[in-house]
Amino acid sequence: MLKQLAFIAYLAVLPNACAFDRSSKRGLAWPNANWVPLSGFTAPSSRISSYYNWGPAPLPPTPTNPNPFPFIPMLWGCTPDYVDPFLSALSRNWDGQNLITDKAILGFNEPNLAAQANCSPGDAAEVWRRVLQPLKKKGYRLGSPAVTNGEDGRQWLDAWWAACQGGCDPDFMTVHWYDVDPGKFMNFVKDYWSAYRRPIWVTEYAPTNFTFSSAGTLIGEQPSYPQIQRFMDITNLWMDVVDYVERFFWFGAMYEMQGVVEDATLFDPRGKPSRTGALSSLGVQYAGSNGTAIGAQGSDGGTRPRWESGVWARVQTGNGSLGGWIFGTFISLYVAMMEGWS
Ligand SMILES: *[C@@H]1O[C@H](CO)[C@@H](O)[C@H](O)[C@H]1NC(C)=O
Ligand SMILES: *[C@@H]1O[C@H](CO)[C@@H](O)[C@H](O)[C@H]1NC(C)=O
Ligand SMILES: *[C@@H]1O[C@H](CO)[C@@H](O)[C@H](O)[C@H]1NC(C)=O
Repeated sequence: MLKQLAFIAYLAVLPNACAFDRSSKRGLAWPNANWVPLSGFTAPSSRISSYYNWGPAPLPPTPTNPNPFPFIPMLWGCTPDYVDPFLSALSRNWDGQNLITDKAILGFNEPNLAAQANCSPGDAAEVWRRVLQPLKKKGYRLGSPAVTNGEDGRQWLDAWWAACQGGCDPDFMTVHWYDVDPGKFMNFVKDYWSAYRRPIWVTEYAPTNFTFSSAGTLIGEQPSYPQIQRFMDITNLWMDVVDYVERFFWFGAMYEMQGVVEDATLFDPRGKPSRTGALSSLGVQYAGSNGTAIGAQGSDGGTRPRWESGVWARVQTGNGSLGGWIFGTFISLYVAMMEGWS
């Protein structure tokens, strides 16, 4: 009961926070380098607390794109093409930029897929033991390889673990998940926790129906915008209160959704031609606020982001409705019951 009250009190004080919320679990998976401004996410009450970019080196902050968020490096793949730049970024001490306080590092990205990191469990075990495992003595905290949520993901992971012969000890499990039903999502994360008993980071997730025709065309019937918003509501509120979920990263903070349902973008699609970085209502919902990126297209009509700094835009929490607050409270009580809190 105490926990429930604390959570409800926490919701109530959120709008008064005066800097971005470092204790929040919400992060940005950011593939845009500096081509897209971060200013949609940097309102004083933003709930974004960290970012990763699928790579080992942080974004260089620029005067027009200052980056307030602590960084999480990743060793993406297991060949020298990835290991060498990773070791180089490590030796440069991440270019002097802040990592999150527990100095987390993320392991291989979808090593079970040929189109992604594509590592054999044996190669991944060898690289993990040689490159990543020794970093624990230097105070780093390691995230497991992030496999996909299909059957072969878990098979790859278990084969990797066996190939490690006791030499791989991730501190937390990273998972990716794409499907439609929020109930399935929560069960998936719960199963991971039961299987591996390590805290969980969801480093990619979005509701998208990956059903392909036999010819390989995506034919899945995709969720509507309200269904996507509802998926986000349920899964985020659940992850906010479940202790074993430490951090999560929606897919995606990007204009090119790479096959994931376009409506899941956190950006307003009208800003796409000039990459303004203005948020969609889903983006505002995820960040818990709206920053200063403006929605209109830039006059250059091209690739340069357009800015508007100094004036904080109207700040929203969630989508600002009492209905949303009541819904959130309801979900938190439901979760408390499911998790057996008393
Ligand atoms: C995914 O799309 C397929 C093909 O359109 C459809 O039959 C199926 O019901 C969809 N799944 C969900 C969970 O919506
Ligand atoms: C808030 O959510 C409701 C229900 O999903 C939606 O109808 C409304 O347009 C949203 N408001 C904003 C400002 O996004
Ligand atoms: C966020 O703020 C920008 C700039 O004021 C505005 O153009 C945009 O419509 C806002 N987005 C939402 C979803 O409220």
